[in-house]
Amino acid sequence: MNASQTSDPVESIDTTLCILGASGDLTSRLLLPALAQLLTEEPHRKVRLIGAGMDDWDDERWRGIVEKAFASAKADGETVKDVREHTTYRRTDITDSEDFAGLLKECEGRIALYFAVPPAIAEKGCRALEKVDLPDGLILALEKPFGSDEATARRLNEQLTTLVPEEQVYRIDHFMGRSTVLNVLGLRFANRVFEPVWSNDHIENVTVRYDETLGLEGRAGYYDTAGAMIDMIQSHLLQVLAVVAMDPPATLDAVDFRDAKAAALRATKVWEGDAAAHSRRARYTAGSIGERQLPDYVDEPGVDPSHETETLAEVTFEVDTSRWAGVPFTLRSGKGLGAKVSEIVMRFKDVSHLPTGFEGSTAPSVLRLSLGPDRMSLELNLNGPGDPFHLDRAALESEFGEGERRAYSEVLEGILDGDPTLSVRGDTAEQCWRIVQPVLDAWRSGAVPLEEYPAGSAGPEDWPALGTGSFEAPLVPAADPEAAAQS
Ligand code: BG6
Repeated sequence: MNASQTSDPVESIDTTLCILGASGDLTSRLLLPALAQLLTEEPHRKVRLIGAGMDDWDDERWRGIVEKAFASAKADGETVKDVREHTTYRRTDITDSEDFAGLLKECEGRIALYFAVPPAIAEKGCRALEKVDLPDGLILALEKPFGSDEATARRLNEQLTTLVPEEQVYRIDHFMGRSTVLNVLGLRFANRVFEPVWSNDHIENVTVRYDETLGLEGRAGYYDTAGAMIDMIQSHLLQVLAVVAMDPPATLDAVDFRDAKAAALRATKVWEGDAAAHSRRARYTAGSIGERQLPDYVDEPGVDPSHETETLAEVTFEVDTSRWAGVPFTLRSGKGLGAKVSEIVMRFKDVSHLPTGFEGSTAPSVLRLSLGPDRMSLELNLNGPGDPFHLDRAALESEFGEGERRAYSEVLEGILDGDPTLSVRGDTAEQCWRIVQPVLDAWRSGAVPLEEYPAGSAGPEDWPALGTGSFEAPLVPAADPEAAAQS
């Protein structure tokens, strides 16, 4: 059956976007504003929006949620208005095949089912779909984490491919929709000064850092079983590593781009294969960030201290290829930290020979790409004013432009266009679990102590500064309370 044959008028709608988990935070805070932004920028799209969930809502209530979210995104234009006015809500238990079939019958055009629900419910929903007559071209979009280890991710992949072809499964990683991550590709491949030095011949180490000032924000139900390692390193930062480390793809289409990313991840493993030696974990204790007070993580509502969940994780990996052998890639992310620091940092090697006679700064060059606001900075040693033999540190900086599109708008654009380039391919999702498993095992066995840091600090005091290599000064300035308060 093709569900598009059941509704009227078929011709006017290209895609029905059906959000499962319509009453959730992800829907109102991220998906709806992103859709509004996309439809404002691209009003030619003919989209129908359906909200579905367990709540006993009517259309009016759902439209109120949509209206508020669209207003927050400063959405504008006839298309936005049309989608807002015609969106409907259907009470649906997505773990029930009959309910699901009824929902699909309401859709028009190509159907995209966006599972904005916890992973366990999404899995049950996909099982319920096995008994449903599915329309051609059905898209299934699933949020992270995808499975809970390599074996469960594989099982889920196998099950999904009994429903639809892999190209129609969108494993969402909103980091792939972040413009900075994609800016890496332009910077590297469109500038001859970068690609030839993008290897272990010239790069000393790479750091991908995502420090947040946010605490748990009421997400214990999910976060207390995930922790910083699964929430960020397994789910997002390994994808960033893959984009930085990939060999140049012939094109940026879905096949070439995802092949190149997958090849990089297949070659990635914990540094020296020693997870106990090359990973750290910690969790925050009570402290203040600007005006905000955070309690001990273990005293946050819903937290079970026996889970020993880390709120800060750091792991060093190697990408075992001729391009990258010997270059440590350190990935770090944490919550409740004193400053928001989100960046990719590539530290170059020392020059092979500096003619005697120079003095001043001789630190290696550093390329820093900040993720939001999107900015790049290339730190160099330049002859300063006055004495021409004295080198000063200078940074060539550039903004990556105003009006950045929301990461989720990029994600939704891919879904509406049927282009999976930015979504995570099944094999890659399994690889990301394979890569972090030794770390999770080492942590569970107690081989790596769970350290503590006061909320608002830069992390445990005795952790070495990241990616410093031979350079003395820390890569990231100590927490600036003013910046923290603003972030
Ligand atoms: C989400 C994580 O996927 O990404 C959150 O679950 C994290 O814990 C967030 O805060 C970070 O991304 P962004 O784009 O919101 O800064």
